[in-house]
Amino acid sequence: MQTMNELFLTLLQDVYYAEKQLLKTLPKLAKHSANEKLAEAFEKHHDETQHHLERLDQVFDMIGKKARGKKCDAILGIIAEGEEVIEDGEDEAVCDAGILAAAQAAEHYEIARYGTLIEWATTMGQRDAVKLLQETLDEEKHADQLLTQIAQQEVNRTAMHTQEHAAE
Ligand SMILES: [Fe+2]
Ligand SMILES: [Fe+2]
Repeated sequence: MQTMNELFLTLLQDVYYAEKQLLKTLPKLAKHSANEKLAEAFEKHHDETQHHLERLDQVFDMIGKKARGKKCDAILGIIAEGEEVIEDGEDEAVCDAGILAAAQAAEHYEIARYGTLIEWATTMGQRDAVKLLQETLDEEKHADQLLTQIAQQEVNRTAMHTQEHAAE
């Protein structure tokens, strides 16, 4: 049976892998977003993601482990969904809505993971780690909220408009 420390390490490696994948993917999402605000949001979050990795490096350090990722099929599945939307590349606005949906799934995945890591680190008395993980969680939540806002105010409306025209 795994100890709590081992479980924590495994989850840390999982999220490290996810962050690395997202670091590669976010510029692609930005490049393929027709909506400027959406592209900007992805670029900004790409910068934040670099900090997320740096903070994880520090957390690995705090528990005396080498920073490394462990393949995570969940994030790969979410990223594949986003790439599929881009490849299908139908209408620009509809494509944006699809990219945005995949990106929000990724944010929710991270939010779930960081939430658990924070709970476990709290239980383990790793206060400094909790602080770092909380900073990242706040940025993930903020990124998710920004995406919701862009979906409501920009992307979904344009996509629906396209649909109405298509139906005419
Ligand atoms: Fe992140
Ligand atoms: Fe994120």
